[in-house]
Amino acid sequence: FPVSVFCEDQVDSTNEWAKREALQGAPSWSLFIAESQTRGKGRKGRSWFSLPGKSLTFSLLIRPNLSLWSGFTSLPLVCGLAVSLALEEEGLEPEIKWPNDVLIDGKKVAGILVEGDFEAEVLRYVVIGIGLNVNLLREDFPEDLRLTATSLLEVSGKRHHRLFLLENLLNKLSKCLEGWKGEANLASLYPELKKRLATLGKRVKIAVSDKVLEGLAEDIDLDGSLWINSEGERKKISWGELVTS
Ligand code: BTN
Repeated sequence: FPVSVFCEDQVDSTNEWAKREALQGAPSWSLFIAESQTRGKGRKGRSWFSLPGKSLTFSLLIRPNLSLWSGFTSLPLVCGLAVSLALEEEGLEPEIKWPNDVLIDGKKVAGILVEGDFEAEVLRYVVIGIGLNVNLLREDFPEDLRLTATSLLEVSGKRHHRLFLLENLLNKLSKCLEGWKGEANLASLYPELKKRLATLGKRVKIAVSDKVLEGLAEDIDLDGSLWINSEGERKKISWGELVTS
């Protein structure tokens, strides 16, 4: 459970803040939470939209004892599972979209950005950034997100308690990370994860570097990669980007 909790009204990005503190020696399980971000980051250089009072944006710094890259690549899914478990306790039915989005009714309700600092093949720290759309109304979202994003309020019709959610999320993160730590792969979480992975059994298009691979998503690997069947050929994709599904 978090050793130290840092709260700010406004920061650039809780992930950037956590990384700065990590370099200054902040301990494992430090939590960085801000009411608003001026430069909330998504993956692939995108920005992350949030509103003070209505969203949850936080980053957790952990220092796993890890020298395996494959342990690191499975982390987004571990976190996706933790977020899903917490949302299920709110009476919702989330799904995980590989590699690290959480969807409800096919729309994105949470984003996860995992960043790690490797030195000489050893992972010095990991920052897990989570953004959750909690009490946003449809009209709160910028127009370009309205078709693809949703909030807990929108899907359940009621307001959700952000602090309670945060506590539950941290609980689930701690449980899932505990399961992951033993082998630094998905083995112990695999059945729970597969049940919730919306991507499996679907045709997907994945942009890897500057190529686009198309195929049927068949399975996930213990290191978090996706196995796709592309015209009879099985291919393993890690750190790709799902363009469409
Ligand atoms: C994505 O879906 O592309 C990932 C979005 C991650 C957003 C969260 S909000 C808290 C943390 N701080 C950031 O700047 N980004 C992550």
